[in-house]
Amino acid sequence: MQQKQAPTLITAFEEEVYEGLTAFPKHLSSKYFYDEIGDKLFQDIMAMPEYYLTNCEFDILEANKDKIAALFRKDGEPFSLFELGAGDGKKTKILLRHFVDNGLQFDYRPIDISQNALDQLEASIKVEIPQVEINTLQGTYFETLREIGNANGRRKVILFLGSNMGNLLHPQAIEFLKNMRDSINEDDLIFMGLDQKKNPQTILDAYNDKAGITEAFNKNILARINTELGGNFDLDKFSHWEVYDPETGTAKSYLVSKETQMVRIESLELEIRLNAWESIHTEISQKYDDSIVEWLAEQADLNIVTDFTDDKQWFKNYVFKK
Ligand code: AVJ
Repeated sequence: MQQKQAPTLITAFEEEVYEGLTAFPKHLSSKYFYDEIGDKLFQDIMAMPEYYLTNCEFDILEANKDKIAALFRKDGEPFSLFELGAGDGKKTKILLRHFVDNGLQFDYRPIDISQNALDQLEASIKVEIPQVEINTLQGTYFETLREIGNANGRRKVILFLGSNMGNLLHPQAIEFLKNMRDSINEDDLIFMGLDQKKNPQTILDAYNDKAGITEAFNKNILARINTELGGNFDLDKFSHWEVYDPETGTAKSYLVSKETQMVRIESLELEIRLNAWESIHTEISQKYDDSIVEWLAEQADLNIVTDFTDDKQWFKNYVFKK
């Protein structure tokens, strides 16, 4: 039965879409890229040659798994390994397998905004590394940090791989790091992957593939508005546009309206006008260097313990503690 939606804004998705599309300039949040289709598109992105981030971090983990195990093992007491934005866990499995092989005592607690990603991850771990005790948790980063803070008495290690923090502007990243700090104790560690500043062309290419996978990923937010909120976006009337500012280290994604158009979103009882060549900002992917990371750590009152990088120094994994 078709139910008439009340004009009250219920979900965070509805609220944020309403806010973003009635704002000037228009914007939507990249956290809504990730439904079943978006998860798959992001996996396809990670497999593209242009998207160097995944391979670099994979190499870093593979080359340093002994050192990482030694760091995480500490005195040998069991720890909980949390992972924010776990996704398909492809890189994490390098560590999980190595930890199991070396008798580390830990339980694995992946967190993701996508329940679909978590279900697939749990199923694959049960088959591939059945020795791992796994407990999944669905939610946004900010929601789930509270849960981490309240977790049992075990030592905590928090993984935050893939430069996922790059979706946050610096002030939000500092807020986030402060929240992380508040949810851990003296002996706990944060292990974070952050993409580094490099040749701007390399960065642009990573977010602008010829095959159009990144474009489809970016447009998936419009597709979700269509299916979940009763929108009538015509995806062909938008182009994907990427810019990278080497001064700030910020890559930004936009959807640009190719013509003047009206779009209706039923569940929001909203009709919006897009002028020809008007933009909707959808994502930032921040790039870092040591001085930016040192500054962020200082702002959040965290200490950098050590870091690991790849041969080209395109990507770095930093270890923080209180
Ligand atoms: C998953 C947020 C790290 O920003 O590099 C990939 C997402 N967007 N291609 C990134 C993404 C376009 C990715 N993160």
